[in-house]
Amino acid sequence: MPLHAPTSPIRHGILRPIVLSTIILNLAVLAAFAGPRDNVPSRPWMNASLSPDERAAMVLKQMTLDEKISLLHGTGMQGLGPMSPLSVNSNGGAGYVVGVPRLGIPAIQMSDAAYGVRSSGENGRYSTALPSDVAGAASWDPHAAYEYGALIARELRAQGYNMSLGGGVNLTREPRNGRTFEYMGEDPILAGTMVGSVMKGEQAQHVIGDIKHYALNDQESGRNAVNVNIDKRSMRESDLLAFEIGLQESNAAAVMCSYNRVDGDYACENKYLLTDVLKRDWNFKGFVLSDWAATHSIAKASAAGLDHEEPAEIFYGNPMKKAVLSGEVPLTEPDDHVRRILRSMFACGVIDDPPQRGVVDVVGGFEVAQKIAEQGTVLLRNEQSQLPLDASKLHTIAVIGAHSDIGMISGGGSAQVDPPGGNAIMPPGKGQTHWQDQIWFPTSPLRSIRAKVPSANVQYDAGTDPSSAAALAKTADVAIMFAYQWESEDMDLDSLSLPENQDALIAKVAAANPHTIVVLETGGPVTMPWANQVSAILEAWYAGSRGAEAVANVLFGDVNPTAKLPLTFPRSEADLPHPNLVKPPQSSTTRGDDPDAWKKIAAGLPPFQIKYDEGLKVGYKWYDAEDKQVLFPFGYGLSYTTYSYSNLKVVPGKNVRVSFTVTNTGNRAGAEVAEVYAALPASAAEPPKRLVGWSKVALKAGESKEVTVDVQQKYLSIFNVDQNTWQLIPGDYTLMVGGSSQNLPLKESINLK
Ligand code: BGC
Repeated sequence: MPLHAPTSPIRHGILRPIVLSTIILNLAVLAAFAGPRDNVPSRPWMNASLSPDERAAMVLKQMTLDEKISLLHGTGMQGLGPMSPLSVNSNGGAGYVVGVPRLGIPAIQMSDAAYGVRSSGENGRYSTALPSDVAGAASWDPHAAYEYGALIARELRAQGYNMSLGGGVNLTREPRNGRTFEYMGEDPILAGTMVGSVMKGEQAQHVIGDIKHYALNDQESGRNAVNVNIDKRSMRESDLLAFEIGLQESNAAAVMCSYNRVDGDYACENKYLLTDVLKRDWNFKGFVLSDWAATHSIAKASAAGLDHEEPAEIFYGNPMKKAVLSGEVPLTEPDDHVRRILRSMFACGVIDDPPQRGVVDVVGGFEVAQKIAEQGTVLLRNEQSQLPLDASKLHTIAVIGAHSDIGMISGGGSAQVDPPGGNAIMPPGKGQTHWQDQIWFPTSPLRSIRAKVPSANVQYDAGTDPSSAAALAKTADVAIMFAYQWESEDMDLDSLSLPENQDALIAKVAAANPHTIVVLETGGPVTMPWANQVSAILEAWYAGSRGAEAVANVLFGDVNPTAKLPLTFPRSEADLPHPNLVKPPQSSTTRGDDPDAWKKIAAGLPPFQIKYDEGLKVGYKWYDAEDKQVLFPFGYGLSYTTYSYSNLKVVPGKNVRVSFTVTNTGNRAGAEVAEVYAALPASAAEPPKRLVGWSKVALKAGESKEVTVDVQQKYLSIFNVDQNTWQLIPGDYTLMVGGSSQNLPLKESINLK
């Protein structure tokens, strides 16, 4: 059974029982909050020309201890702690924090929003499903990432939310992690830059952005108990660097600390992570909120830097008040927590420009979702230019598998976006989704393919019987197969193989038709024992509301693919740093049906150990260092045109300036992600190379452009733990440029001091 630790089925159906007595109590509490009209101060902090710090300090001065405490916690979620009667005022999202109406401070209404706004079904609303976050990262296009965030935030605001719980940026140390689709791949510079752009897009709409899960929550199995063992240098240069860049790029106002322990302490009471690194070294001015039921103490968590507990008030409600009154927690700590929350609200504009409810722009959402799906779909194989398909030459097409007649799969858990009309597959017509249902969006590849070739005979086979699928494929000019692997929060994959015998199905169809094209709907890498037997492979990820249209546009060449892999596709699990996923012992888990599970989790489950002893060697750095062949490398992706690289110049300086020429040598327009890697001097003791920059360059057929990538010194440095600082190791650096981590035709060495 999957581990439901804090996430029992009840927990994710956010029940909001509207009982008369609760409403009366609630009104009474609100009235008390509002206070008599004469007590309302003049509110000089509403002057938007003051800085967020000045405004927060003014409000803080006016607040009673009770008001302060009320900002330090959420108001409950079924199954994850006590419910406050005030939760009836929740907007229906995962988190609701009462404001301080007396002082004009609005409530914080938080919603999960990884690839769109969650829980729209049960709230009777509509949200666009963007392609999964990993697909956004595959665009390698920060502008696309900005649009991704801006769209989510517009829909949040239209639904009455002022804070997003999105921005997952845990690195893919463990590709079987059930949340790989929610994250941005395996490289800290790519992932950090992309999540930073998503956050910028969100916060520009006046929504509080949140980056999560800080840190090293890289597998779901045993997430409430696991102790991650990792050395400081490896985490600073990899996992934490992604957060650092994301925050630097965006000033995201919130960071969600994760469920797991890191080097002995829970992340949400880990002084090194929260205070030493985040608040001191990175000068983070926002607030830290716990993942849902990831708080485990009052004094320790508060001193370590946890500002806010979600979703309930197990520690940061009355117990915190008592701890402050008894002197166990100095008032300066909750004051700092509150100041950070207020400051974030002012800085993000949620006080000056509160959300305006409205009808979500469905058509506008479709456009963005489709564009990003087109920019994120990776062409992995294209033998003898099988793609793009030429509609005028095709008479018969077989479309096979993965419910491609009806829909496309989406990622599950708290990222889940609800499809309009309910789950397209089974059971049909449900208004809302349930925790760990496989949810299919009503975007039909079969229909989109038919629309491209109205005169052709396009037949569908479900793929449940490989012989019947192969028989259909045999009669067709081309066979287009859809294959999927579903992922969700709260579980990990057993393996990287496609489930449900799809490998055998693909092999059988490929044997029947030499023009077999496979479209993958996966959250991350899968193994492909049939890769050499098919003529083309497209990675469409979880493609979102308009996935089918995007895939058809790529298949038929209306869109020339431009995406590159943000993570490695290994040949087999045996090649991973940890061939076997570390599973928790039973004592480190709770039962999904245990009503007291949250109490056990809050008290702290016995730890079990994961040792990230591959250290710095995350993703391609591992395969490079260990000299392991991969199926498809990091940074790889084909196009319907070809590119060449020339004229490399590397100029040392504060930033190292790398310039080169990219030429479109084919006969159609395209955009190339030109990637820059660096090999550090041997004395730096680093993996063979790291990505240090890139540029996505649009080029007409035959066109050349000079491209300049400025490489920040930090990206060429190592983290010196003894001095707690980034350090450039003097010596020879080789800069390499090309179209993937394994195809770097340009190379130049420079000496840096
Ligand atoms: C997830 C978070 C999510 C929260 C609220 C947790 O289970 O780990 O990513 O934001 O629930 O739904």
